[in-house]
Parts: sequence; C-alpha cells; structure tokens
Amino acid sequence: MTTTPLLALEGLGITFGGLKAVNDVSFTVKPGEIVSVIGPNGAGKTTLFNMISGIYTPGAGKVRLAGEDVTALSPHLLARRGMCRTFQNLQVFQTMTVLENVISGYHLQESGSVLADLLNLPASRRRAKQAEEGARALLKRVGLDRAAEREAGSLSYGSLKRLEIARAMALSPKVLLLDEPAAGCNAVETEEIDHLIAEIAASGVAILLVEHDMKMVMRISNHIVVLDHGEKIAEGDPATVSQNPAVIAAYLGAENAAG
Ligand SMILES: Nc1ncnc2c1ncn2[C@@H]1O[C@H](COP(=O)(O)OP(=O)(O)O)[C@@H](O)[C@H]1O
Ligand SMILES: [Mg+2]
Repeated sequence: MTTTPLLALEGLGITFGGLKAVNDVSFTVKPGEIVSVIGPNGAGKTTLFNMISGIYTPGAGKVRLAGEDVTALSPHLLARRGMCRTFQNLQVFQTMTVLENVISGYHLQESGSVLADLLNLPASRRRAKQAEEGARALLKRVGLDRAAEREAGSLSYGSLKRLEIARAMALSPKVLLLDEPAAGCNAVETEEIDHLIAEIAASGVAILLVEHDMKMVMRISNHIVVLDHGEKIAEGDPATVSQNPAVIAAYLGAENAAG
C-alpha cells in the first residue's frame, strides 16, 4: 500500500531580479513524516516555505495538498485547508495572554459573522467557548497549560516557540511548516521542541522543517532535502545525506565564503 503524500512539490521555482532563488525543487511529505530542508544561508529555504504557504507566487511548478493543486492560494485559504506554518521570527502577540494567542489561531478558521459576534448570539458564544476549550487542550499538549493566563511577552524563548506551534495547531493542520522552531533556544528547550514535533508527527501530521540546529535535524528527520543556491543537491535519510560529498562541499563552501 502506498500512502498519498499530504504535501507534494512539483518543480517549484521562483526568480528575483534574475536570481533563481529556488529552481525546480520537487519532493513529498507523507502523513506522520518529518522532512527537513537544510542548506547554507541564502540556499532558498525560507523562499521555498514562502511559496508553499502562499506568501510568494511560484514562478514555476505546483504545490499539492492531499493531491489537490493549491499553488498560490492565499495564506489564510491554505491555512483553512490544513496547511499551517510558524515563522522564523516570532509572530506571537506579546501583550495578549498565552490563552488569547492560541484562541486567535481559531478565529482564522471561522466564517461566522461579525454581526453575530457583536450581538453576542448563542452560536457565537458557543464558538467562543469551543475555541477556548480547544485552546486550553492545545496548551496542555505543548506543556503551557499552567501559563495560560500569563502575558505572552513574559514567557521564555522556548515557551514562546511552543506557543507559536500551539497557535498553528489550532487549525488542525494536515501539513505543518516550521521555520527554525528551535532558533534561540537552549539545549533543554530544543529537546522539548523535539518531543513536541515528534508527537505532532505521530498524530499523522506531515511536518516540513527548516532548522539550523543540525543535531536536531539529524535526530528527528525521517528524510532530509538539501538545497544549495536554490537547487536540490541531495535528499535521503539523515545518515546518507550527512555523508554525501556534495552536501559536505556545500557547507564547507559556505563556511569558506563566510571567512
Ligand atoms: N523578496 C526577495 N527579493 C529578492 N531576493 C530575495 C527575496 N527573498 C529572498 N531573496 C534571495 O533569495 C535567496 C534565498 O534566500 P532565502 O530563501 O532567505 O535563503 P535561506 O532561508 O536558505 O537562508 C537569497 O539570495 C536571497 O537574497
Ligand atoms: Mg531562512
């Protein structure tokens, strides 16, 4: 039996003023799989994420979500269909409580009318109650239930990163894109995020990860795709990829270029 990939990229590419930032990149992510995209700075990782999540319109190629062509749909339509992401730079609302941040994730999903909310109709009260219950369950899942009423800005960096994941989970994603979920985290926080990502994958979500912490990438990825200058130069399981001469050369080249 073959499993249909939840996410499939087919020849994805984009050019910025003559520079091929991403060129002809194809790969798939299945339910429960953790796929990481690695590559030196400027390789095209964030640009790839921006195309997948609808922030940039690809110049070439297709994005499929559970088989359906979703290329260049807007980020919020994609999110409603089950493609959710976190950002390299935190996008948490610092002055809202932890709970309110996760509840805000639920509102993306709603089609309910503003008028109904203003009139405080039973249906909108019910929705608000469901969102709060869902948000509390997610906070428990990411280990932040006891911080629910705290102002988000007062959390440690690792907790903020988990909060961001909880908010993305509010939309019950099929595919979760994580851009540097462990950036700025210490070893203990990174390990907590490891466990969280593994747990989310185990529940059947397809995870696509960009992360600089190579130890983390090697630990949790089922499959790794390597980009260099916008091109896919290798892919495979962690052991195979880490021994690939082209991959080693790309990283050494980047180190030499950096001084
Ligand atoms: N909006 C943009 N306009 C012009 N060039 C861009 C833009 N975004 C990214 N680039 C360029 O595309 C290349 C890939 O960048 P990026 O995707 O940020 O790399 P990475 O995330 O792998 O470090 C870089 O050369 C970068 O300067
Ligand atoms: Mg980047």
